[in-house]
Amino acid sequence: MAEDLQIHKGTKEEQYQAIIPQIKWLLEGETDSIANMANVAAALKEQFGWLWVGFYMVKTDSGNIEELVLAPFQGPVACTRIKKGRGVCGSSWAAAKTLIVPDVEKFPGHIACSSLSKSEIVVPVFRNEKVVAVLDVDSDAYDQFDETDQLYLELITALLQL
Ligand code: SME
Repeated sequence: MAEDLQIHKGTKEEQYQAIIPQIKWLLEGETDSIANMANVAAALKEQFGWLWVGFYMVKTDSGNIEELVLAPFQGPVACTRIKKGRGVCGSSWAAAKTLIVPDVEKFPGHIACSSLSKSEIVVPVFRNEKVVAVLDVDSDAYDQFDETDQLYLELITALLQL
């Protein structure tokens, strides 16, 4: 396989339209969830240069309670475990919907893994209509995410078979 991603400049929409076929190609024929999350995180990080792009997976703890656990990501080191309903990630999981946060300091209960993070979008990943993971993207600038990101990141998470 060719190693290099083709990075495109242009509007946000044009960038997503250029990266999505490459993500489809990266996922094609690979069934391993970790490998696929790793390549999606890397492709998005390379294309958009965001501060942090990665996944948290729903897993059960020793007491059989579900929580989010850090999974493949690109960016600074991050918190490893997040309870349901906590922070942006745990809230997106609990609500089973995408959350866009223009200013993380204004989100009650936001979990600051990096003090550099200023805005954030979290997109649930579904299997059989159940949330099995979330895709979390952080920017070091305020107000970086909108409905265009939601649309395309939801398309991308739908490509993942976790
Ligand atoms: N800010 C997230 C925690 C994860 S880190 O941003 C990577 C939250 O509030 O859930």
